[in-house]
Amino acid sequence: MKSKHACFLIFYIMVSVISLPFLVSSQTCQRTCGNLPLRYPFGSSPGCGDPRFQKYVNCNQDKLTLTTHTGCYPVTDIDYSNQVIYISDPSMSTCACTQPSKGFGLNWDAPFSFHDDNVFTLLDCSIGSSPVYNGNNTSAVPLCDKKGAPICSFLYTCRAISMLNLPISTCCVYTPVDLGPSFEMDLQKLQCSSYSGFYSFSGQEANPENWKYGIALKYKFNVYNDYPSSCANCEKSNGACGYAGASNSFICNCPSGLNTTTDCFFVTSFNNALRLLPWQTGTWLIYTMAWILIWVFFL
Ligand SMILES: *[C@@H]1O[C@H](CO)[C@@H](O)[C@H](O)[C@H]1NC(C)=O
Ligand SMILES: *[C@@H]1O[C@H](CO)[C@@H](O)[C@H](O)[C@H]1NC(C)=O
Ligand SMILES: *[C@@H]1O[C@H](CO)[C@@H](O)[C@H](O)[C@H]1NC(C)=O
Repeated sequence: MKSKHACFLIFYIMVSVISLPFLVSSQTCQRTCGNLPLRYPFGSSPGCGDPRFQKYVNCNQDKLTLTTHTGCYPVTDIDYSNQVIYISDPSMSTCACTQPSKGFGLNWDAPFSFHDDNVFTLLDCSIGSSPVYNGNNTSAVPLCDKKGAPICSFLYTCRAISMLNLPISTCCVYTPVDLGPSFEMDLQKLQCSSYSGFYSFSGQEANPENWKYGIALKYKFNVYNDYPSSCANCEKSNGACGYAGASNSFICNCPSGLNTTTDCFFVTSFNNALRLLPWQTGTWLIYTMAWILIWVFFL
């Protein structure tokens, strides 16, 4: 009886050891999404990146997407050194094309704020009822930046925008951008049918065809804005930072698929050693197991 138990135990251990390198899948947390490199605090799926960001930024079918209560927005670029992400809004009007939109808003608890370079313009606002026109007295309209008038007139040189059914408004630059994370541009409330937004003139202010349309959002790692050193080490060893457990504690997701609480330097060398001699290792283990079985049963 005793030897039988020992035998099963040894058999079980052997099978586990042999199958270990084959069972572990590849890296769960992707280090790229389409063409975009993925690094902390962004992650490809739940359990990856930072949980505060994972709620809002996900990789779906090789497309990195920001989700807010107003919609889903493709992430077009990430500037890791300046901590800025750039998104496009499919409902936004550009110099080439105007279309109806409900506006854009960030969730109050989203870890993003608007970059100072953003300029938002309101288009096709109802002359009779929009607070933008507020009785033809533009100085009474808090939403307008009157210094932005040249921007509006340049924008109205775009054919698509000039075709909108409205008088050319010198009040179109929407200023409550400084409101930060709670910023909300509710076009229904403003009685405007569309908006445009850009974050760069591309050096040519008078040429709205070349402006960079989209929205730039800043982010911070935490209140001190320091990059977690555990995560930096993990990324240096080709790992992807993630989190697990009820308290969302840090894990390093390694290229082999294994998770560690530090980095992947050990796991990688262990796996490479096994990979160098996969057939020989397996054969050697089977021989050893056979010898142990023979020893347990016959001696
Ligand atoms: C590693 O962590 C990721 C993210 O939390 C998880 O999805 C995956 O299942 C874990 N892999 C292993 C082998 O535990
Ligand atoms: C604003 O001015 C235009 C012409 O200057 C006029 O047609 C329009 O009725 C005015 N709107 C309001 C709300 O006073
Ligand atoms: C426009 O509004 C401002 C501030 O409310 C006021 O001081 C000014 O007299 C108004 N102008 C006209 C023409 O009604």
